[in-house]
Formats: sequence, C-alpha cells, structure tokens
Amino acid sequence: MEQTFIMIKPDGVHRNLITEIIGRFQCNGFYLKGLKFLKVERSIAEKHYEDLAGTHYFPALVGDITSGPVVAMVWEGNNVIVKCRKIIGASDPTKWEPGTIRADYAIEIGRNVIHGSDSIESARKEIALWFPEGLSGSESNLY
Ligand code: CDP
Ligand code: MG
Repeated sequence: MEQTFIMIKPDGVHRNLITEIIGRFQCNGFYLKGLKFLKVERSIAEKHYEDLAGTHYFPALVGDITSGPVVAMVWEGNNVIVKCRKIIGASDPTKWEPGTIRADYAIEIGRNVIHGSDSIESARKEIALWFPEGLSGSESNLY
C-alpha cells in the first residue's frame, strides 16, 4: 500500500497543534506506520528540501525546520499521498481551501505548520531520509 511522509513543522509544534493535526489523518482509513518527535539536523533539512536549494527562501526554510522539534510521521493507505495533500491544503496561501489544515492554522506561506510528500518518488525519498532505521509500525497485522 502507498505511504507518505508527513511532518508537523516547528511552528505547528510550538503552537500546540500536534494532536489537532494528527487527528485530521486518523479518520480516513489511513494507518500510522511511524512517528517520532525530534529536532532535526541541518543536513537532513537541507537534503529534505534539496529540490528548493537555490530559491530565495531556501535559507529561511532550512532555518525554520531546524529551529525546534518536529513530528515526523509515515501514513499508509490507498492514494494516501494525494489525499493527505488535500487534507493539508495548497502551498499558495491564496488557494487555501476551507477546512484544510493550512486554511485553519497556517499564517503565511513560510509559516504553514505542515509538510506532506507530493509524489511517490518524494515520499520514498523522504521516508528513507527521516526513517533510515525502518518503520516500527510495519509489523502490525491487526487490520
Ligand atoms: O509545502 P509544499 O509542498 O506545499 O510547498 P513547496 O513548494 O514544496 O515548498 C516547501 C516549503 O517552502 C513550503 O511549505 C514553505 O514552508 C516554503 N516556501 C516559502 O517559504 N516561500 C515560498 N515562496 C514557497 C515555499
Ligand atoms: Mg513540497
């Protein structure tokens, strides 16, 4: 089944949105396969956003992601990548749809509380980067 990487960014953690955000993903037939709370090293943040290296906002973005702890998660389910991106909301603040996490909680494009993989390739890359030890939730066969 498809998997995606979701991260509550430091601004979301700082604003006590962890349980609220996780709850948004729990009611959609998605399965939580990995979760950790960590303050990430600069090299991981740079690798995570390597496609954006060279943009004017890259230094601020890496600074933000390394500014405090994040909640890194892997969720699994049918079409989970696209569905999670819908739950998260658009990148562009002018397109934030009502009811999405970003519409409800983000403040601006650089303070948008959450990340979600945008394709199968990025999901694979991001899961391997953030969970190099593998996924401890993978052994469950309760469902
Ligand atoms: O996060 P998402 O995939 O929706 O957007 P992105 O285009 O992959 O950009 C990654 C992150 O860079 C965004 O979530 C913002 O935090 C940041 N960003 C920014 O600060 N200023 C921009 N003009 C574009 C993106
Ligand atoms: Mg992105």
